[in-house]
Amino acid sequence: MKRLLWAGPSLLLLSAGCGRQPIPAESVAAPKPPPSPAAAAIAPVTFSDYPVPAKPGVTPEFLARGRQMFDQNCAACHGPKGDGHGVCSNFLVPRPRDFTQAHYRLRSTPTGNLPTDADLFRAVSLGLSGTPMPPWRYLLNETDRWAVVEYVKTLSPRFADPKEDRTTLVQLGDPPPRNEAAIADGRALYTKMGCYNCHGASGQGDGPSALNLTDDTGQHIPARDFSKPSGFKAGYATREVVRGFLTGFDGTPMPSFESAMSKTEAWKLAYYVETLVKPPVVPVARASQGFRNHEELGAPDVKIKLTERAWHYVPDEIHVQKGQIVEVTFEPTDNGLGAGHGFAVSSYDEVAFINGAMVGAPKTVKFRADRAGKFTFYCATQCSTDKLHPLMNGTLFVEDTKPATN
Ligand code: HEC
Ligand code: HEC
Repeated sequence: MKRLLWAGPSLLLLSAGCGRQPIPAESVAAPKPPPSPAAAAIAPVTFSDYPVPAKPGVTPEFLARGRQMFDQNCAACHGPKGDGHGVCSNFLVPRPRDFTQAHYRLRSTPTGNLPTDADLFRAVSLGLSGTPMPPWRYLLNETDRWAVVEYVKTLSPRFADPKEDRTTLVQLGDPPPRNEAAIADGRALYTKMGCYNCHGASGQGDGPSALNLTDDTGQHIPARDFSKPSGFKAGYATREVVRGFLTGFDGTPMPSFESAMSKTEAWKLAYYVETLVKPPVVPVARASQGFRNHEELGAPDVKIKLTERAWHYVPDEIHVQKGQIVEVTFEPTDNGLGAGHGFAVSSYDEVAFINGAMVGAPKTVKFRADRAGKFTFYCATQCSTDKLHPLMNGTLFVEDTKPATN
């Protein structure tokens, strides 16, 4: 069974980051222009910092709008009833959240408590890094995100229960100075608190208990590998590390340590955790050209228009030559459901991928055909397998016209 992991957010960031232009000499003295939306998108905003606009009044119409947003954008993964059993759910790691249980990972509230409305808005806006949960800030406007948050709350009776405490917040305290003594204290706490049991002595998620951890869906869940900052669900920042182990990740074995240590200790521990992060050795050293952004690849040599007719690709054969820059534009005919058809090339460059599950995502992809051979292309919605869309495939022929060179 093929499991597709989410490729969207990192691609968005990559392409946003490459758009930076050298500043022309004459503009240096000019007043600073307001930051462009693209610049705002690449600023490292993490969970706690993400600005939350005022929530519109919750009326029946607003909830109906939320339900519509949910059906169109969320149900494919989270299920029409919000129980986590969407058509795609079996192919996703981790599984989509079951909203009827209301166990939320990202919160500013104590362990076991529900998240605040702002927490939900932030999680929906930013997505959960390293998981298939997309960042909806690129796709839904603020009002629609608030509407869908309000709708998600109706899926569990807990949100309507006045006995639920949704106002107590976990205080993070003030960061102590970051110096060697603080890091040494943090290292001692890492041992004392037993973090190594799950996260491992070197923080790579390989502690003695790591293989036996399961989440609330019964699936194995890895303890976070601290050496890879891109895997931090709330985004990578010292504050999020502190918040994470003070609130705990409800529905996972990651406990809350709020009552086990002082705020100062929490920061020192986070400083130590951050020493376990390994910066990438080479910025982006991918074998594949596709990881360069679209502009960098230059003008395409061939443009392929692909459509979908009754669960078939038209055309179902694509012929290109090795070394060509290929641009594929895909127009599915039945893309009104939130999860439409997509496009990917099996065992080829991962970036030759159009995500049909993501409403509003680009339907064009560009890649360099840098490997000769015969490849299968297929429907690449998050839920796609040969079983679900058995006829949605075709063949990409990459012909090597000059086998002697290269
Ligand atoms: C491509 C599949 C997919 C789609 C589409 C999707 N989600 Fe998710 N969502 C996930 C997965 C997977 C998780 C679980 C992530 C985890 O456990 O870390 C998740 C988790 C969540 C969470 C829980 C956050 C937390 O703190 O625990 C919320 C809230 C959420 N999704 C809301 C939405 C909303 C609202 C939409 C539609 C606008 C949506 N999701 C669309 C896959 C998806
Ligand atoms: C019983 C096992 C266990 C122990 C003990 C444990 N963790 Fe975790 N931790 C996990 C798991 C599992 C996750 C992944 C949760 C997820 O993906 O939703 C996690 C996630 C995290 C994260 C990820 C934050 C993010 O944004 O993704 C941090 C930071 C963290 N743990 C720190 C610690 C520290 C520090 C300690 C000790 C004080 C500790 N953990 C103890 C199991 C554990």
